[in-house]
Amino acid sequence: MANFTLAHLSDPHLGPMPTPPLPELIGKRALGFFNWHRSRKALHRPEVLATLVADLKAQTTDHIAVTGDLVNIALAAEFGPARAFLDRLGTPSDVTLVLGNHDIYVRGAEVLAARHWGPFMRGDDSEPGFPFVRRRGNLALIGTSTGAPTAPFMATGWLGDAQRAKLANVLAALRQEGAFRVVLIHHPPTLPHKSPHKRLTDAAEFRDIIARHGAELILRGHDHEHALEWLAGPDGARVPAIGVPSASVTYGGRHAPAAYNLYRIDGASGAWRCEMISRGIDAAGNIVEQRRQTLLG
Ligand SMILES: [Fe+2]
Repeated sequence: MANFTLAHLSDPHLGPMPTPPLPELIGKRALGFFNWHRSRKALHRPEVLATLVADLKAQTTDHIAVTGDLVNIALAAEFGPARAFLDRLGTPSDVTLVLGNHDIYVRGAEVLAARHWGPFMRGDDSEPGFPFVRRRGNLALIGTSTGAPTAPFMATGWLGDAQRAKLANVLAALRQEGAFRVVLIHHPPTLPHKSPHKRLTDAAEFRDIIARHGAELILRGHDHEHALEWLAGPDGARVPAIGVPSASVTYGGRHAPAAYNLYRIDGASGAWRCEMISRGIDAAGNIVEQRRQTLLG
């Protein structure tokens, strides 16, 4: 495969928060609304996100992956502006989205997500549903959804039986084809997760699938931090699972400042090369290269 550059950003938690109609502001959403105004709106800044996206757009990329949490409490009025954000990144064929827990914050939000963002989270077969597969030459993007409505104060997520069964089949088939398989998943497959109330509840089962069928790269969000974890793959292979900070967090807070990753992928099945370049915001508000690391090859 000719050199392919994949960009990854996550968890923009887009503001400003619309003023919700009162009937929408009950239960978990009321807590989330209060939490946004108390602390999160100072953390996730539109101007930081705009600076980061401008830097990303100035790079040469072939595709952009976004691993969820576009919105905050899944109000109906949050989905349209989030669609506009996706459109600014690129066309649905050049941008792939998977869902996070804030996107499916309450029951019914999946309908809004599908209506507004559907073209960004559909496979080449155009069928809605997860996991979906997009082929770009020898690269295969596999989009999963771990977003699910949960109780107040919970930010867990899961794939569930049906997605896991399909994921195993998809990874096995793409392995036969010699594709460079990139799994997109919002929640980290870390076991145990440092915060049980934020964990992927079927992380062990996900890791079993990777151990049996492998993948070349797993990209995730959720924890708002840089992270690199190596998962066991088949035949002694090691699969990098990589977390990226939120794309909108200011410098100097308790969360990692805004960043995104670029993956330069080259080679062929059995001899892949993949280099990761992290770019993020510094104290002066500029986007700078933070790190460069060879993952494969
Ligand atoms: Fe998030």
